[in-house]
Amino acid sequence: MKYLLGNWKMNMSYREIEQFAKDFSTTGLSNVYVGIAVPSVYFGACFGMKNGMNIGLQNCSEHDDGAYTGEISAKMVADVLADFCLVGHSERRQYFGETDEIVNEKIKKLQKFMVTTVLCVGETLEQYEAGKTKEILASQVEKALVDAHCLNQIIVAYEPVWAIGTGKTPTTAEIEDCIQFLQDKLYEIKGKKIPVVYGGSVKPSNIDEILAIDCVDGVLVGGASQKAEDFTALKNAFIRRQN
Ligand code: PGA
Repeated sequence: MKYLLGNWKMNMSYREIEQFAKDFSTTGLSNVYVGIAVPSVYFGACFGMKNGMNIGLQNCSEHDDGAYTGEISAKMVADVLADFCLVGHSERRQYFGETDEIVNEKIKKLQKFMVTTVLCVGETLEQYEAGKTKEILASQVEKALVDAHCLNQIIVAYEPVWAIGTGKTPTTAEIEDCIQFLQDKLYEIKGKKIPVVYGGSVKPSNIDEILAIDCVDGVLVGGASQKAEDFTALKNAFIRRQN
């Protein structure tokens, strides 16, 4: 199974979503999980137009329920039948102070309700330049997955922070090295193969070289998931690989 995952972040309007649903279809794909993490207010609308796609959310609370204005619980994520939920996206870590411990709490809550979780990890530019990438990746997955036992419901996204929304990407050799490293580390700590996708400035012009890396289980896409035309171009690269 390969994964084509989108993350709309805090973008899109009702009208744009309707247009996207008209213009994008999963037709032609086989054995590819297509999912989009949508803004929670649009979840119901997106769910009604899902048409073969998986509709996920971008975050949930580390708390069970109660007086947490503006938050969404894992129980709610499961209750609305979200297909998956992102956790630990670098924007959450950077702007909302999410630590590995908080990420771990969120994952445990989602696991309680059997929600597939996409755990995002990745090093900052400073850590990359200091040669600390693997150390950071190992520590992020180790801490985030403490007491996570439903391993069939975990997908890891390797997203170098410096590659997100910047147009910069690591070399294919670096992507391969980091994804392989994460897969080995996950096997070592969890005893199971867990899929690892790449994210960070994935676009129609570089998707083929990324998918050509054997160990890459798919992609998590921000900017290029917001237009049906771009997302279709990415989809077509998956179709080329399967043929
Ligand atoms: P980008 O975002 O594709 O716009 O770089 C990726 C992400 O944040 O998941």
